[in-house]
Amino acid sequence: MSMLQPFGSELWTMDGDPVRMFAIPFSTRMTIVRLESGNLWVHSPIHPTPGRIDALRSLGTVRHIVAPNRIHSLGVSPFKEGYPNAEVWVSPKFPEAHQDIIIDAVFDSDSVPEWADEIEHHVFRGSFYLDEVVFFHKLSRTLIVTDIIQKHVAANDSFFWRQVKRLVGVLGKEGGVSLDLKASFTNRELARQSKEKVLSWDFDRLVISHGYCVDKDARSIVEKSLSWI
Ligand SMILES: [Fe+2]
Repeated sequence: MSMLQPFGSELWTMDGDPVRMFAIPFSTRMTIVRLESGNLWVHSPIHPTPGRIDALRSLGTVRHIVAPNRIHSLGVSPFKEGYPNAEVWVSPKFPEAHQDIIIDAVFDSDSVPEWADEIEHHVFRGSFYLDEVVFFHKLSRTLIVTDIIQKHVAANDSFFWRQVKRLVGVLGKEGGVSLDLKASFTNRELARQSKEKVLSWDFDRLVISHGYCVDKDARSIVEKSLSWI
């Protein structure tokens, strides 16, 4: 099977290496959009091995590298080294967290990237911890989320981690927003506004970075995941 998994019109995913954060095992996933220009937009880049670079080359040239929150820094610098002409866009708190990473632009509510007509973005507000930018790819009607919604694949985890992930609410297709992340949303009014913004987008699919994606009727799943706001 190719490393590139077609997911929607002009949108692919590519799975990366497993990582651990605070000892917790995570699978990783990069999302790739081919823009009308033919250039590639990569979201949450994984480590660019030669095989992965070859697979991407079959689609086009990477011109836009997106770090959607301050945690997902893994492949940003290696991608920038491989594609020096690519522009690096990062989440609001990313520059402070990664002063060693060269960036070109920071997302805020008013920023207008050159791909804004094809992919909309929104900085999800209300959490004192997570500064995640969520995206809507219009052509494939896909919502692209990184950490806010997680649906870890049980088969990848040991018994112990399955129980932990079940308890915090991120295991399997029923997963959603983890308990600790919910607790970080101390400004519920801002979170509510962000939820409304996301649900105003006309999406039908959901790509997430950790676990099961949703290839149809994703709206009700996202609504359910955010119903606590
Ligand atoms: Fe993550």
